[in-house]
Amino acid sequence: MEKPYVFPRRASIDKPLRIAVLISGSGSGLNALLNYQQDPRAHITKLIISDNINAKGLKYGYDNNIATKSIPLPDISDKNRQRILHEGLINIELINSEIELIVLSGYMRIFTPSFVAKWKGRIINIHPSLLPDFPGAHAHRDVIRSGVKISGCTVHLVDFGVDTGMILAQKEVEIISGETIQTLQDKIKKIEHEIYPKVLDLLCEGQYHPIS
Ligand code: GAR
Repeated sequence: MEKPYVFPRRASIDKPLRIAVLISGSGSGLNALLNYQQDPRAHITKLIISDNINAKGLKYGYDNNIATKSIPLPDISDKNRQRILHEGLINIELINSEIELIVLSGYMRIFTPSFVAKWKGRIINIHPSLLPDFPGAHAHRDVIRSGVKISGCTVHLVDFGVDTGMILAQKEVEIISGETIQTLQDKIKKIEHEIYPKVLDLLCEGQYHPIS
């Protein structure tokens, strides 16, 4: 039987949910979330992790005095062992910081089933397309090639598949003539920055409204 989602506790401004944000790149979503959390919220970022030591987004962690770690893939040739060791290092940091929810914000790696099993219901992701359409690492390119007229973003819980977990929220944008990967990405990031913090608010209230 499929392992069920185990959701985080309800949280409040007095006892905010301790979250870790995982990034791989520019971290504009992380920055938007940290700005949102400048006011007291029911969630607070306690840890930032990047698998990419050169991720530009790491600076938002340092600037905000939040524990910020670069954890690159260990330098070993066995790919399976490399993934497991890497996730082990990440897990130690999550446990040490007493993290209650993992927020993937432009984190470009896929977790192994054994990592997901430990955290299922407590890992959330944002993806730049209207899932289940256009999963994977090249959503904007695939959307533009397909000729569809609407795209958007999706917030979902992470399960054992790639971009397949329970969908919690979606927001659409229109694709205009002459749209490029860059213009579409910019437009979608804007709506991502609004929707993600709001979904976190709802999760902290114990509200899960799956969209099928
Ligand atoms: C965001 O658009 C996010 O949806 C996407 O990466 C971008 C990160 O931007 N995530 C994925 O594609 C995950 N498959 P940022 O680093 O500027 O926040």
